[in-house]
Amino acid sequence: MASKPDLVEQILEEYDELPIESAIDDEMRAKPFRMPVQKVLGQHAISGLVVSGDIQLNDTVKTLPSGMVSTVKSLQLLDDAEEALMSAHAGQAVMITLNNEMAVSVGDMLCTKTNPCEVSDQFRATLVWMSEDEMLPGRAYLMKIGSSTVQARVASPRYVVDIDNQKTLAANTLRQKAIGSCNLSLEQKIAFDPYMDNRSTGRFNLVDPQDNQIVAMGFLEYALRRAGNIHWQALDVDEAARADQKDQRPVVLWFTGLSGSGKSTIANALEKKLFAMGHHTMLLDGDNVRHGLNRDLGFTEADRIENVRRVSEVSQLMLEAGLITLVSFISPFRSERAMARERIGDRQFIEIFVNTPLSVAEERDEKGLYKKARAGEIKNFTGIDSPYEAPENPEMTINTVHQSAEEAADIIIDFLLMKEIINKAGGQ
Ligand code: ADX
Repeated sequence: MASKPDLVEQILEEYDELPIESAIDDEMRAKPFRMPVQKVLGQHAISGLVVSGDIQLNDTVKTLPSGMVSTVKSLQLLDDAEEALMSAHAGQAVMITLNNEMAVSVGDMLCTKTNPCEVSDQFRATLVWMSEDEMLPGRAYLMKIGSSTVQARVASPRYVVDIDNQKTLAANTLRQKAIGSCNLSLEQKIAFDPYMDNRSTGRFNLVDPQDNQIVAMGFLEYALRRAGNIHWQALDVDEAARADQKDQRPVVLWFTGLSGSGKSTIANALEKKLFAMGHHTMLLDGDNVRHGLNRDLGFTEADRIENVRRVSEVSQLMLEAGLITLVSFISPFRSERAMARERIGDRQFIEIFVNTPLSVAEERDEKGLYKKARAGEIKNFTGIDSPYEAPENPEMTINTVHQSAEEAADIIIDFLLMKEIINKAGGQ
């Protein structure tokens, strides 16, 4: 197994008294200047707590990740606005006025231009898992670092360290009190230092977005180089051009519901109608996508999260291709459907809850799977021994007890016409 890096050694030594936030002491005063921006008080003034180093009047400063540069015009303590300072140091909460206008936001890091921190959105990090619920690889957690909060996904651990005998072990997840080395991928870039260089700017907490509870303490090891080497390619033919050519508004129609609820039958009937009207469509069906792209995934919680993450990414690509995209996946967890909504954008994401009671789906049992699940031949079956979290605010709910698939498809067509997503002439 991998050898333990110094960082893990250090965490193991301090394990019993790891503080949620790092203290500012003499050691931090000797480090380069860092101030996470807590408030923007106008185009020339910002405030925050200096977490390391010191800053003098007239110093040239830089905000990261944005990379704007200015010089310090004035400095004052936040709790004593009367006294103008010549310099400020770690531990002081200050207001800084700058000579030039800078586009600064809360969450940016103020550094000196000569000694800036790093910027990245992909990391190797060490996590100390605190929650009773085990870590779910691929789930969107929130990373709170400095004054910024960003969405973060954690990959399966590369290894975990057993705190009793300090051995490194292979693992797929992190359980309470485990220390693990993981790769992290963020929704946007952050300014940071490796924890070994700076205990404050290399330290973060992972929070559950549902209840805001801390699930893990984190320590940044280093930025993964791949983050810097992949650039977004600007293309001349874009989503709008592709949609214009088809004369339609691309959207994702996301069908969620129990197995056997009727999602795929309704989606199929709807696609036929849209197609006949001249629209350009694509249907992504859970069973089918699981034969190809997602053939490596099963039905554990972690695999379903990854299943839905991948299909959200694929639907986003379909959307960019200008297509009306129908997605028919059980997608049982609110949190991943929310993630799909966020990825695709509220305006283009239409959640359709195919609301069939378990008793009805089980009674129909078209694929014979409920029978097998009841007999214990299939594990983690949705509705039986794996949860289904019904949508709270879907754009549409279809009741299949009182409506046939044809009727349901007509209702959805009416909804799309009413919202002017499609028109009667179709893509003609
Ligand atoms: S999801 O939960 O990960 O979104 P998905 O829609 O891709 O599920 O696949 C569900 C289909 O897989 C079901 O319609 C059913 O045919 C089949 N299946 C096999 N095992 C299970 C299981 N344990 N739970 C639910 N569906 C299962």
